[in-house]
Amino acid sequence: MELLKEKIRREGYVLGDSVLKVDSFLNHQIDPVLMMEIGEEFARRFADAGITKILTIESSGIAAALTAGLKLNVPVVFARKKKSAIMNEEAYVTEVYSFTKQETNHVTVLKKFMPAEETVLIIDDFLANGEAALGLARIVEQAGSSVAGVGIVIEKAFQEGGKKLLEKGYNVESLARIASFSNGQVHFAEELVKA
Ligand code: G4P
Repeated sequence: MELLKEKIRREGYVLGDSVLKVDSFLNHQIDPVLMMEIGEEFARRFADAGITKILTIESSGIAAALTAGLKLNVPVVFARKKKSAIMNEEAYVTEVYSFTKQETNHVTVLKKFMPAEETVLIIDDFLANGEAALGLARIVEQAGSSVAGVGIVIEKAFQEGGKKLLEKGYNVESLARIASFSNGQVHFAEELVKA
């Protein structure tokens, strides 16, 4: 998605050799126009997948999931990273370890918002080690629903997440794939050629 890549080139900055800061349009401040285009692009890529629900994880996945949900005309659920004190209803809970933050979250979705037999699109802002997306997929499958695809705004293709998701058989669509960082520059990967 050229508009997104352009935004990353102009506003993103590289921290160390593996982290991209994009807080001016995705992770802190949000660019609503770009986010609408991101939603449209996800909707286009998953138009024939029969999606009935979108699942994302708080907080930065929510904006992209919302615009995709608007375009696909389906409800959007966001998993919580911590069980809320007033969440006293039955819930699916799975542990997700963050390598970046070195902490484990108990990712939670109320059962009433993830019933069986939904066709679910998982959306997240970043794909790094894939733990968050795999955790969301576990919840969907525990519920007796199916994962129709995983939509990612920015994939760091030099980390393991994309490979892990493909090995599990999920259809992964990343709008920008980063091959590497060097000298503060972002190098994009060619689009994945699917067999
Ligand atoms: P994983 O889910 O793919 O395994 O990734 P990991 O544990 O490494 O990432 C944990 C958090 O760090 C996630 O955000 C993820 O989106 C974010 N992250 C990973 N790599 C980058 C990066 O290069 N740049 C930025 N900006 N974020 C990155 P989170 O904790 O869920 O944060 P938020 O959604 O509440 O903002």
